[in-house]
Amino acid sequence: MSNKEEKTEEQNQTNWKDFIYNPRSGEFIGRTASSWALIFLFYLVFYGFLAGMFSLTMWVMLQTLDDYTPKYRDRVSNPGLVIRPKYMEIVFNQTDPSKYLKYVQHLESFLQPYNDTEQEQNEMCVAGQYFDQDAQVEKKVCQFKRSFLRQCSGLSDTTFGYSTGKPCVLVKMNRIIGLKPQGGPYINCTAKREHPLQMQYFPSEGKFDKMYFPYYGKKAHPKYVQPLVAVKLLLTKEDYNTEITVECRIDGSDLRNNDDRDKFLGRVTFKVKVTE
Ligand SMILES: *[C@@H]1O[C@H](CO)[C@@H](O)[C@H](O)[C@H]1NC(C)=O
Ligand SMILES: *[C@@H]1O[C@H](CO)[C@@H](O)[C@H](O)[C@H]1NC(C)=O
Ligand SMILES: *[C@@H]1O[C@H](CO)[C@@H](O)[C@H](O)[C@H]1NC(C)=O
Repeated sequence: MSNKEEKTEEQNQTNWKDFIYNPRSGEFIGRTASSWALIFLFYLVFYGFLAGMFSLTMWVMLQTLDDYTPKYRDRVSNPGLVIRPKYMEIVFNQTDPSKYLKYVQHLESFLQPYNDTEQEQNEMCVAGQYFDQDAQVEKKVCQFKRSFLRQCSGLSDTTFGYSTGKPCVLVKMNRIIGLKPQGGPYINCTAKREHPLQMQYFPSEGKFDKMYFPYYGKKAHPKYVQPLVAVKLLLTKEDYNTEITVECRIDGSDLRNNDDRDKFLGRVTFKVKVTE
């Protein structure tokens, strides 16, 4: 038994060397060169075939996609609301232009695409009707001129009411392809406090006209402009120096505005504090 073990010890070493390269049979790690070559060839063909299959299925799938409409969409489309200027807290001193300059500049640049002269290139649509253009390849755009926002257009009052302590805030709905809100959607803002805060809406009653829907997507509808609602907060002297929380919701339609988990679904909240 012990004799055998000694022998194996020695044999093991030669076996190991033989295993790496066996000069008698010409084998390398247990295989001849041609055997190795066959194995490499086999895997080359095998993986080549897999890569080919993958590319082919990808290509076939991409053929079924359309550049103009997304293939997969959410089952229910409910837009979020956002405000401009893009701040959660609008705090400024109405007698110090440097304090509200950033809000005014932001509004001014945001409204550039709504420039009246530019919007005049777009369609005059029929109010109160969806602007369906499923058949057309190049989708047209309904005019939304910034002058529709009247005192909040920045045209007559270039400070959007900030210099008089009655600031304008623009509310817009996020774009959702194919969305057609039912009913008559409008923006309703309320101050979260005991007594109500007076506000003015532009266009009147804060309505989003149906003619701005549906939206067909960035590629099909490149010049699309979203409808806006401007809210002018008619603050008075008594409202100064206090922080007021305002919540705006989309009302009057099937769009959701009271989701417990998503605070921005159909609504938006911001704070305003004006000093003098
Ligand atoms: C607001 O600005 C005016 C003019 O710069 C200044 O006199 C006033 O003290 C400021 N008010 C506050 C509360 O900072
Ligand atoms: C916007 O309109 C005004 C006139 O209403 C014009 O002077 C200005 O050049 C326009 N701006 C752009 C970017 O088209
Ligand atoms: C706006 O919302 C408030 C509170 O949710 C409600 O009391 C009021 O009736 C609404 N106004 C309109 C015009 O819907």
